[in-house]
This record gives sequence, C-alpha cells and structure tokens, in this order.
Amino acid sequence: MVSEEEIRKRVAALGKQIAADYRGMPLTLVGVLKGAFLFMGDLIREIELELMVDFVEISTYGDRAHSSGVIRINKDLKYCAEGSHVLIVEDIVDTGLTMRYLVKHLQIHHPLSIKICTLLRKEKQGGQDVQVDYVGFKLTDEFVVGYGLDYAGKFRNLKDIRAVPKHVYENEEKHDESH
Ligand code: IMP
Repeated sequence: MVSEEEIRKRVAALGKQIAADYRGMPLTLVGVLKGAFLFMGDLIREIELELMVDFVEISTYGDRAHSSGVIRINKDLKYCAEGSHVLIVEDIVDTGLTMRYLVKHLQIHHPLSIKICTLLRKEKQGGQDVQVDYVGFKLTDEFVVGYGLDYAGKFRNLKDIRAVPKHVYENEEKHDESH
C-alpha cells in the first residue's frame, strides 16, 4: 500500500514540518509502543531540534482487527513532561479511541501542549472525533502491517506497508492485543 521510498520521503517531510513548528520550544516526542517504534526512530532523525524522547506502551482488548475500546497503559512516561510540549508519535489512528484516551492520560503530566503525529490515518464513518495534527498517509478501511505495524505480533519488520486480506482476520476470537 505504501512503499519504502514513499515512507522515507513522507517521514522526512513530516520531520521538517515539525522542526519548523517547534523551533525554540522544549519538545518531548512520546512514541506509542510497540507499533510506532520504527516510525519514531526514523522521524526523530529528521527533526533537527534538541528534543526528548519517551515511550508509553498501550494495549487494547479486542480481536486483532477490531478494537473493543477497553484500553490499558502498560508503561507510562519515564520523564516528566511538565514544562515541555508533547508530540505523540503513533503508527495508526483508526477510531481515535486510543488517542483520546492517551491525550487525556498525558494531561496529568501537565505538558505545555499535546499534539498528535500519526504515520497512518484511517478515514471511515462513525469514528471517534480526535484532532490529528500531522498525518503521514490516509487509508480507507484496510487492516495493514509492516514498518512497525503487526498482525498477531508478526510482520513488524516489513520495510513497506501492506494490506492484510479481509478473510484472514474475520471471525477472530477476542484477546488482549498490545499495540
Ligand atoms: P483506534 O483506537 O481505533 O484509533 O486504534 C488504534 C490502534 O489500533 C493502533 O495503535 C494500532 O495498534 C491498532 N490498529 C488499528 N488499525 C490497525 C491496522 O490496520 N494494522 C495494525 N494495527 C492497527
């Protein structure tokens, strides 16, 4: 769906835009594990600013392709985000539930601001309204893997982003799925 070269170019452009927007400001990038680890690694090297890097780990109860909306934070921020702008770095925003939950949670750390940067954004009807400030690519309703994104814990190491055929993930049983 998205080639290695397209990802590289888009991540570079996002990095430039973020650097221009946050120049002269204290900035903490908060990566959402595990899906955003590759995107985070590439993105920070395209942002020519002094910045802090932190991670949260989130899991959602549901089947592999459909979130139930029950979200849990497995690992919180290590550093205090108070006095810094926070930019959340996510792999994919689907319904927006996870991001709404995380933004609310991060507010207890009293950052100067909270914005969201996602590599992929699914656009479909009936999703939760969440403001995403930086979007790499827009998708419709495919379930995708690669470049950090998984299906059943696998395929994170693909260099490009590929769609999983619908019949593969239909009729799955519910379980606790780490991002
Ligand atoms: P949301 O809460 O519905 O926005 O779901 C966001 C989370 O669901 C992401 O952080 C991913 O972990 C997971 N997710 C949603 N769609 C996909 C996909 O197409 N491939 C892999 N993971 C996905």
